[in-house]
Amino acid sequence: MKKYLVTGGAGFIGSNFVMYMLKKHDDILIVNLDKLTYAGNLENLKSIENDKRHIFVQGDICDKNLVRKLFAEYGFDYVINFAAESHVDRSITNPEIFVTTNVLGTVNLLQCAKEAWYDGEKWAEGKKYLQVSTDEVYGALGETGFFTETTPLNPHSPYSASKASADMYVQAFRDTYKMPVNITRCSNNYGPYQFPEKLIPLMINNAKQLKSLPVYGDGMQIRDWLYVEDHCKAIDMVCSGGKLGEVYNVGGHNERPNIFIVKKIIEILSDKVSPEINESLIKHVEDRKGHDRRYGIDPEKIKNDLGWYPETPFEKGIVLTINWYLENEEWMNRVTSGAYRDYYKEMYKNRM
Ligand code: NAD
Ligand code: TYD
Repeated sequence: MKKYLVTGGAGFIGSNFVMYMLKKHDDILIVNLDKLTYAGNLENLKSIENDKRHIFVQGDICDKNLVRKLFAEYGFDYVINFAAESHVDRSITNPEIFVTTNVLGTVNLLQCAKEAWYDGEKWAEGKKYLQVSTDEVYGALGETGFFTETTPLNPHSPYSASKASADMYVQAFRDTYKMPVNITRCSNNYGPYQFPEKLIPLMINNAKQLKSLPVYGDGMQIRDWLYVEDHCKAIDMVCSGGKLGEVYNVGGHNERPNIFIVKKIIEILSDKVSPEINESLIKHVEDRKGHDRRYGIDPEKIKNDLGWYPETPFEKGIVLTINWYLENEEWMNRVTSGAYRDYYKEMYKNRM
């Protein structure tokens, strides 16, 4: 039986990943370590709460004693680190916590894995540490070209600086101690359980309530959107088949300007919910500081080496996503009550 330490598995991608793995593999054990910050939600894991192959532990990836204890108790084969502060806008107002969790937390996991798997000369067989990273570490593109695995790291936001720093520590452990690692760098994800601070669920939530849709600047910034399940599949494939030490970019050549995404959401909701949801709700607001203009992934390496390909075209994925949010109104109501209201007021008051 393979044993996984999955961190951040109560967040958006992590919870989708845990559910994906339990669906795909019978003989596994997943220990899910998550601090349950504002972005983590046990409700995301409701469908697997009675599954004996999944053990949830509330805790911090920076907590050395706890992580050591988990290694001693379970003898993990794999560590897959999703845990992070993940929102660029929050990193612009409060960068410190991004350093703590994303950098120090990663280094703590690397250290604990090294203690458990390395005897000073050789690494135990079959172990791997996988860092879930982002294309944002590469910086921004102009109108042409794509990020490849050899594009130099050139992060701009405090979020991407912390993720790039974490990637460099993973590479340092690989180069210094020959630690068995992989790094995946994925483009923007969308799908069920994404917290409504991010573009797609925020627009769905606002549009449903006939609230303004705040598009930063001219809305012509480009992101390369990937359905979350395709990202989960890529991580599973890299974990089991990725060549040790390698970086894999993950993306589906689905570049869209933000304004296109917002108009697409309006079109679908206008049809499904009410014709009152229309483009008059769009409001161009003050731009994000240091806003990266374009991201675009070249996924040739993971396609050629591991046979990964994205299965969900955008036209299908966006309908699946909107349907999920419409069917899970209670989830949205719960995550947007309380602290979310303060966040929204604070983040958008000067923009609007
Ligand atoms: P998220 O914000 O939805 O979830 C993060 C999870 O980590 C939450 O459950 C939170 O409680 C947990 N967490 C935060 N700090 C922690 C700590 N100190 N200890 C333990 N748990 C902690 O993020 P997401 O969108 O699911 O992203 C997951 C990972 O994927 C992140 O590392 C992110 O950088 C990366 N990534 C995200 C995207 C995207 O489009 N969302 C794209 C590429 C890569
Ligand atoms: P986001 O979902 O925050 O992801 P990231 O910044 O990691 O790419 O934002 C995606 C794009 O949408 C980004 O260009 C910023 C833009 N955006 C808006 O225009 N309005 C919003 O209210 C939000 C949250 C994002």
